Amino acid sequence: MAVFAKNCPHIEFEVVDINKERIRAWNSKDLSNLPVFEPGLSEIIKIVRDRNLIFSTDLNNSIRKADMIFISVNTPIKKTGLGAGETSDLRWVESCARQISEIAENHTIVVEKSTLPVKTAQTIKDILLSSESGIKTKSFSVLSNPEFLAEGTAISDLEAPDRVLIGGDDKHAMKALNDIYLNWIPQEKLIFTNLWSSELSKLTANAFLAQRISSINSISAICEVTGADVNEVANAIGKDSRIGSKFLQSGPGFGGSCFKKDILNLVYLSKYFGLNEVANYWRSVVEINTWQQTRVYEVIVKKLYGNLANKKIAILGFAFKKNTNDTRESPSIAICKNLLNEGAFLSIHDVKVTKEIIENTLFESPSTLDKNVYLNKSNLEFQPNFYDAIKNSDAVVLLTEWEVYKNIDWECVSKNVRKPFWIFDTRSLIKDKNIHNLGLNIWQLGNGSLN
Ligand code: UGA
Repeated sequence: MAVFAKNCPHIEFEVVDINKERIRAWNSKDLSNLPVFEPGLSEIIKIVRDRNLIFSTDLNNSIRKADMIFISVNTPIKKTGLGAGETSDLRWVESCARQISEIAENHTIVVEKSTLPVKTAQTIKDILLSSESGIKTKSFSVLSNPEFLAEGTAISDLEAPDRVLIGGDDKHAMKALNDIYLNWIPQEKLIFTNLWSSELSKLTANAFLAQRISSINSISAICEVTGADVNEVANAIGKDSRIGSKFLQSGPGFGGSCFKKDILNLVYLSKYFGLNEVANYWRSVVEINTWQQTRVYEVIVKKLYGNLANKKIAILGFAFKKNTNDTRESPSIAICKNLLNEGAFLSIHDVKVTKEIIENTLFESPSTLDKNVYLNKSNLEFQPNFYDAIKNSDAVVLLTEWEVYKNIDWECVSKNVRKPFWIFDTRSLIKDKNIHNLGLNIWQLGNGSLN
């Protein structure tokens, strides 16, 4: 909405939430401490906040005034009941629809921005239309307008998207949303579909992106045992214009709040309609991803002689990718938990993720290792300086591709670590051919010529 507000100074935008603390933080004078770290965002907030972008907790007032409402709430995976572990928990979407249905006045266009299971627009429509009060004086149109931005590049993705998708069956409503985007996006990038194609396209786009990562990660394992180098393979196949070069970077597995959830939604949808082979196909993309994370952990244990007790391991990177402080589904979580489970002491560094978030993520989220005696805060420390994290350790594991990790002075590191020392580089960050001469061992994911 900050980008919308910047490009449409003639339109008033209100971001409303029931979470007072969150809204207070978005209104904070200290722009360096907004709730979400996203390059370029604070600069835009500085221009548009209180100009034509307002952060407020007054939901009813905003709903009453609005011509258009974007539902942008969480849709995490359902934890219990029918479809648990696969389909999305829609309680927040439903409660938004109920509140809008009750409070809205005149005609309101309701836009699904959250990623949702296919056919959710029907649920929203049903709830909106069930409104008893003032049914004669209020009316609704529902549109699907999925978001394709990626964290870390959100602003540029929104400023210059590959495409914007508008799904619906009400031409007037679709034109109204189209006209807002036209303020900065050329018409040829705006695509119109029916509601269900739009909802399904969002899930499919993420599933295809995730599938590419699982594909290259599966090849990374073959590279390691054959002497091939996954980056050379990715480069060679990426030159084929039919394949393309993007999203072929192998790593410790994809994280983030979307890929796994969206694929599992596809799995659930397929099973629901009896398409079990389709469900199995997409489930395997998630299975390879989990396997990749386990594989990294197992390599670490094996290289360190099968024993991590009394060993200090430095973890560089906890965010699921660079340029974000988001840790949701980060491969670092599973890898760190498994290392703790072996009795290792972890010294963790991240450029943007704080100590509190790391501790909460590791110890407060549900864990399959809950009975683990090592899974407690005394086996972990957070270091704001990564050289301090590595100091006196037995190994370092590079898990997030932060730029600063590309320039580590390994000669300096080699003087202050316990030997034999191992570097586990899961993101192909280290290009230095001199590592072995420094008396350091290195394992690089997918690099069979090195391992
Ligand atoms: C993803 C999609 O890229 C966005 O288009 C989509 O809008 C978004 O989900 C969403 O549905 O909200 P995001 O999760 O922010 O965006 O980040 P990505 O850049 O897609 O990265 C996801 C994960 O894949 C990260 O852990 C990243 O390290 C990993 N990845 C990405 C690789 O391992 N290799 C690659 O080549 C690319």
